[in-house]
Amino acid sequence: MHQEIIPIPVRPWTLNGISERMLVSHYENDYGGAVRALNAVRAELAALDAKAPGSRLRALKREELIAMGSVALHELYFGNLGGEGNKIPDNIRAILEEHFGSVAAWRREFVGTAQSLAGGSGWVLLTWSRRQRRLHNQIALDHSQAAVDSAPVLALDMYEHAYHLDFGANATAYIDAFMRNVDWTAVAERMAAVHADRALPSDDPSDQSLPSLSVEELAARLAKGEPVQVLDARPRHHISRTVDLMEGAVWRDPDRVEEWIGELSSDTPVAVYCAYGFHVGCNVTRTLRERGFDARYIRGGVSAWYAAGGARALRPATG
Ligand SMILES: [Fe+2]
Repeated sequence: MHQEIIPIPVRPWTLNGISERMLVSHYENDYGGAVRALNAVRAELAALDAKAPGSRLRALKREELIAMGSVALHELYFGNLGGEGNKIPDNIRAILEEHFGSVAAWRREFVGTAQSLAGGSGWVLLTWSRRQRRLHNQIALDHSQAAVDSAPVLALDMYEHAYHLDFGANATAYIDAFMRNVDWTAVAERMAAVHADRALPSDDPSDQSLPSLSVEELAARLAKGEPVQVLDARPRHHISRTVDLMEGAVWRDPDRVEEWIGELSSDTPVAVYCAYGFHVGCNVTRTLRERGFDARYIRGGVSAWYAAGGARALRPATG
């Protein structure tokens, strides 16, 4: 089973006290790295000779579990950021009070547990134990040591790569910033799902109303030599801060579609991407489709492409 990259679920430029640069680096390098590691280890498992020693199989299964955990926990982590951390819905307050005595007591333990990992590494999770029918704050080391039959509803990454760029060794400041940005709506949806024994909701924020391509689908088309016009439609203020773009793409200003639309071939599919896939790429795609082009937006934008290990090229000057 091939693990696909999900688009970054949170708008990374909107966080309070956590930089876009750090969050995007975390997504592209660490989350993307985990997805790539998982696919690599699964390819090795699929190709493993039946006569391979048990120690080899054991090592690969261990690596697979670590990578699976890292992928899932990073998706939960990015998916539970982007809110106003002090706005805890009443129903969540009631659940925390029921299981921890008070919201303050829950927070004290959750934050204290995170601080206990400062200078080390691991995850701090608020989990729902199906077995015990109750919530629990726990540490997950190696991305994989979760309590038996528990579903994480809030995930805090305490690996140094999650905060060092913005906060240096000041883990306390990072934990404070994380708590300010918790998206309790996402936590509430997860909580509702686990209470009803449903699967956790997807953290993929893609616009399903518009035709799109995943970065894996685009890579497969390009690898087969299918003709695709790949457009980089990041806003000028964004592209001017970057030095590279997707290999084979050309940058076109999303605010000046009329100036360049005539250059496009009308009988070749168009793939449009922006930075993260939230709206700019979608808007350009919509315009092109209204004008008769077979245009699709790339889910997750160029960030998902980089996270998947896609090739990049130096960007020509935009003038
Ligand atoms: Fe991480």
